[in-house]
Amino acid sequence: MAAPLRILTVIGARPQIIKSAALSRALNGPFKGRIEESLLHTGQHYDANMSQVFFDELGLPPAAMNLNIGSGSAGATTGRMIEGIEAVLLRKEHDVLVIYGDTNSTLAGAIAASKVQVPVVHIEAGLRSFNKSMPEEVNRVMADHCSTWLFCPTETAVVNLEREGFKREAQGHPTADQPHVMNCGDVMYDNTLHFSSLHDGVDLFARSGLEKEAYALVTVHRQQNADDPKRLATIFNGLIEAHRRHALPLVVPIHPRTRKMMDSFLDPLLLRTLDQTKGIHLIPPVGFLDMLALERHARLIITDSGGVQKEAFFMQKPCVILRAETEWVELVQHGQSTLVDADPERFQHALDRYLKDSAPECPPLFGDGRAAERICEQLLAHR
Ligand code: UD1
Ligand code: UDP
Repeated sequence: MAAPLRILTVIGARPQIIKSAALSRALNGPFKGRIEESLLHTGQHYDANMSQVFFDELGLPPAAMNLNIGSGSAGATTGRMIEGIEAVLLRKEHDVLVIYGDTNSTLAGAIAASKVQVPVVHIEAGLRSFNKSMPEEVNRVMADHCSTWLFCPTETAVVNLEREGFKREAQGHPTADQPHVMNCGDVMYDNTLHFSSLHDGVDLFARSGLEKEAYALVTVHRQQNADDPKRLATIFNGLIEAHRRHALPLVVPIHPRTRKMMDSFLDPLLLRTLDQTKGIHLIPPVGFLDMLALERHARLIITDSGGVQKEAFFMQKPCVILRAETEWVELVQHGQSTLVDADPERFQHALDRYLKDSAPECPPLFGDGRAAERICEQLLAHR
């Protein structure tokens, strides 16, 4: 039997820790013995409820290494990550490097590996917002162009890559100059199918007094929203108004970036109103299993998160997106999501419409729940 393929998987931020569960599950199941994975955690996210909780509840192997980079400026933290990842790759114990999505940890992995010529496997490749003021857009483009394997979650992502010169169905042995692009489906669809059947959030609902199907789930953390005090205030004022107009309870797990900005810059009166309004539940970040339960039982979802937008789609929930554009264009094209930016009128209008008509039924667009297995098959077929 051939020696196992040795992969180094770089994770760091909450969504990529969660994403990595799909591949880890496949490696522990049908691919056991044929692919060996070590997890390298950059430490970009470090609070227990942004990191450890996912290891505890999703069956991830413990991280073999943690660079403990923590928070700081993008340049300084990304630079330290590159240095740390390079040092691990120079030990020559890994055949390929796996990265997810579009965070600074993703970019650091792509740069470190391409400098020492370790093939890069980018999972969730090809997404574009066409807005380079988003740090994530720059990270995605750079990571894709360093990669040897580009595993796309959707057909749109493949088309985006073709527009940048990548070839679909490339032949021959994959290299950074002749990368392989494939629509394998979305590992988060794999995860949503797998984990949502495991847990119904009973404790969470009992504790909070939230009534199922009668509340909106809200998350806000994008830099463009959280770091702009005016936009953040507009969004929170819009939520208060929506709560009052529709008597709609809101549950809002608060990301640490947003918490920090709320405490530093939000008008104290607005902050007090948010804290004291009985039907507005500002809560700390929750684990993924509770999050899936909150999504599954929400009347609708309001978010600027990429992952939460998609999970709303998987659960056939209407979704109001607090951004001007999205990488997940299919969600908007099918009418299940509506972009409202931070515009109060567009926000209330979308909410009124979804509370009256709910969202149209949508076809499955993100694969069949076997994306991780398809990725493993491809890696082994062309090693
Ligand atoms: C990062 C990603 C973003 C992703 C998000 C997922 C980049 C450029 N951005 O954004 O694409 O959607 O993660 O959640 O990589 N903080 C804590 N504790 C933590 C983590 C962060 O207090 O465990 C606070 C720190 O004050 C930190 C701030 O949150 O400065 C922002 O964290 P950072 O990782 O830089 O960016 P995110 O907004 O989390
Ligand atoms: N999530 C979670 N707990 C929370 C908020 C989000 O487990 O309190 C999950 C969510 O279900 C999704 C992922 O985190 O799978 C999305 O991460 P985030 O919104 O931080 O980043 P993005 O997807 O925008 O990059």
